[in-house]
Formats: sequence, C-alpha cells, structure tokens
Amino acid sequence: FEKLNKNFEKTSNPISNTVVLGNGVMGKGIIWLFSKYLKDVRIKLRDVSQAHDIIKDVSKIYSYLIKTKKMTKNEVDFKLNKISYTQNFDGFKHFDFIIEAIIEDEKTKKETYEQIEKVCNENAIIATNTSSISIEKLGTELKNKENFLGVHFFNPVNLMPLVEVIPSQYTSKETINKVFELLISCGKTPILVKDCAGFIVNRILLPYLNEAAFILSEGSRVDHIDYLIKEFGMPMGPFALADTVGIDVGYKVATILHEEYGYRMPVAPIIEKMYDAKYLGKKGETGGFYQYDGKDDYVNE
Ligand code: NAI
Repeated sequence: FEKLNKNFEKTSNPISNTVVLGNGVMGKGIIWLFSKYLKDVRIKLRDVSQAHDIIKDVSKIYSYLIKTKKMTKNEVDFKLNKISYTQNFDGFKHFDFIIEAIIEDEKTKKETYEQIEKVCNENAIIATNTSSISIEKLGTELKNKENFLGVHFFNPVNLMPLVEVIPSQYTSKETINKVFELLISCGKTPILVKDCAGFIVNRILLPYLNEAAFILSEGSRVDHIDYLIKEFGMPMGPFALADTVGIDVGYKVATILHEEYGYRMPVAPIIEKMYDAKYLGKKGETGGFYQYDGKDDYVNE
C-alpha cells in the first residue's frame, strides 16, 4: 500500500475530461476544480433549470482568484465555458472520468452507477466521493469493478489539498495510477487508504464531532466549545465544521458509521434533532449551530 502511494506510475493517456454528478456543496467544488485543470467538464443535472445557479456558485469560487489577480476575468470565462451540462446522460461515452457526489445513500448511488455503466465508455473510470460507505459495498453490482474506486475530496474542495483514494479489492493498478496522476495535476495530495466504512479521516472526525454534540447536551455552549478547540489549535471548532459539512450529510455519515461500528460510534441525539428540524448548517435557510447571512465565504486557494 505504502509503495503504491509513493510509486504511482504515469500513464500514456492521462485523464483530460470528466463528468460530475451531484451539484451540492461538494459537486460544485469538484466542478470548479476540474474546470480549472481539465479540458472538458460535463455536469449531469437532475433539472437543467439548476444550471444557472451552479455556474454562479462555481464563478464565486473563481472570484477570489480574480480579486487577488491570480486570474483575469477572461481566463475565468474561458474556464467556465468548458462546462457543459445534460439532464439525460448525453455524451457520457466521450468522457474518461465520471465522479459522483450525490446524496449519501447506498441505494441511490448504486442505481446511478447502473445508469452510468449503460452509457459510458467501457474504459471510463467511475469514482465516488462518498464519505462513509465502503467502496466494495457500493460497487457490488458494477460490471467493470476494476474501473471503480473512491475519490474522497474534502470540503471546501478549493482549499483542501488532501484527497483519500480508496480502491476496492477489484480496482486495477491502472485505475489508481490514472487517478493519482489526475489529482496531482490538479494540485491535490492524493493518499491511498484502505477500504472500510468512513476510511480514515471520517472514522476519526465523526466521533470528534459527535462527542462535541454530547458535551453540548450536557449544558455547555456552542461558541465556548468552538473557541476552546480553536485555542487548542484546530482551524475551526467542531460546530463550525459540522455547519460547513452540512448537518444532513453529517447525520447520514454518523448513522452509517454507527451501523458499521456500533457502540463505538453512537449518533448524538442533538444531531438527529437538528436533521429532523432541517437545521442543515451553512447550506440551509435556517442555519445550523450558527446563523449565516448568505454571504459566500469561499476564500483563497
Ligand atoms: P449536498 O446535499 O450538498 O448535495 C447532494 C446532491 O445530491 C445534490 O446535487 C442533490 O441534487 C443530489 N441528489 C439528491 N438526491 C438525489 C437522487 N435521488 N439522485 C441523484 N442525485 C440526488 O451533499 P454534499 O455535501 O455535496 O455531499 C455529496 C456527497 O459527497 C455525499 O456522498 C457526501 O457524503 C460526500 N462528501 C461530503 C462532504 C461534505 O463536507 N459535505 C465532504 C466529502 C464528501
């Protein structure tokens, strides 16, 4: 494993284009990244009326680069013009790399792969940005299991260099090499991790977020805990982080990890209550642990 991490081999036909499915918090970040570095990006929408808002949000990520004179408006327009969209899987067969960042739900993801495999090129790599579901489990019904793997970006994609790369036992070395090459060419730091529910980062992060919620329910305060943890040296406190991730995503991931790891990873009741009451964090209209004024906070790259 370690050897693979360091000694990935360059391939003769690197990935130059991609399809992104899912245009929520993560999908938009991934669309931004690939529009910056690849030749061609297609987005698969559930409803084409979403296209305008997505391009607007992707432009917001670019706006910092214009502000800091790292890119000109013309250069950004050129990048944005690479993005095309489809509602019906049109043109999938022309794309090398198809990544899904849709809702964290095993059944929905599996149904999506079935549809993708019907229309994509047989050599195309299919990747999932899942936070918590085992790659082998997600890939059970795929025909081309050797082309399937986890490519787990972190939020916000424009700021976080780390990407966990998770092969299943069936993923080919060629697929891993191509994905490493792609991520490095996009300025990311891919690290190979073993397949299991939650991989490495989220197996550590979720119990941390959960425990913060338990401490809160024992009578502490959100801002007090966040302040303390920042003083300890973390870039943000656990509640600011939970709001950034999205309470819905956090709740789903916590539930999946609880199913897998049992008593070691209970779901804090406050998180469940907030999910039920639709306090989803930054992306929701009612905020989460904090209130937000709708200002974008995509900062420097
Ligand atoms: P989100 O809630 O912001 O976006 C979810 C997307 O899924 C939306 O585009 C929505 O239209 C789509 N969707 C919903 N139901 C669907 C269905 N039935 N069929 C197809 N698409 C559907 O979620 P987010 O945060 O972007 O997460 C997406 C994926 O990325 C999940 O697998 C999540 O676990 C993972 N992830 C999330 C991170 C985070 O910090 N939020 C970090 C890393 C991975």
